[in-house]
Amino acid sequence: MKLRVGVLISGRGSNLQALIEACAKPDYPAEIALVISNEPEAMGLVRAQGADLTTETIEHHLFEDRRTFEDALTISLEKAGVDLVCLAGFMRLLTASFVSHWENRLINIHPSLLPAFKGLDVHERVIASGVRFSGCTVHFVRADMDAGPIIVQSAVPVHPADEPKDLAARVLTSEHECLPLAIRMIAEGRVRVENDVVRVVGTTSPVNGLINPSGFS
Ligand code: GRF
Repeated sequence: MKLRVGVLISGRGSNLQALIEACAKPDYPAEIALVISNEPEAMGLVRAQGADLTTETIEHHLFEDRRTFEDALTISLEKAGVDLVCLAGFMRLLTASFVSHWENRLINIHPSLLPAFKGLDVHERVIASGVRFSGCTVHFVRADMDAGPIIVQSAVPVHPADEPKDLAARVLTSEHECLPLAIRMIAEGRVRVENDVVRVVGTTSPVNGLINPSGFS
């Protein structure tokens, strides 16, 4: 039985696309059971329909409050038999009640090396700060924004001439590797949360570090 993933999106859906491509491989241990967008015009819906996935649009502004919107999300996700909910560019904050209902079954992808640079306009802030590396993080969701046990991270260098769009593109390429990897690890039962930290079964310790700027001797 493959892990049934529900993907929540609001826009472009390039991470959804990466997951669609991973799921197309016969040995990938997860499948997309449902894609929900809160935005009817989301490009990700077009991608999902192109891959013959079941899609639903649940527009947040048609609900009285966050709670009733989230109840509608949960009803649809549970009806589709979803085991894991993946936030892939879903631009709504979720209440503690939704997060606790899906505890350790709800993941998010964020375009920075958390816990640094939570929130929006990440790449602008990364460049302004002068850090040498950025990257992306896939993590279990907790009630605080962009917080929770980290499953996978990937680092990319920040180059001196980078504009936010350059860094965003470099980080996005690594997002497209990390999201399918994290879901594979969960589906294979290799991800355990202990004391709110993820322990991965079957990893080895890396021997090398990353240094940026590189190329000096
Ligand atoms: C990604 O950068 C993701 O990290 C962030 O929102 C963006 C979504 O991009 N949470 P896409 O819709 O998957 O292309």
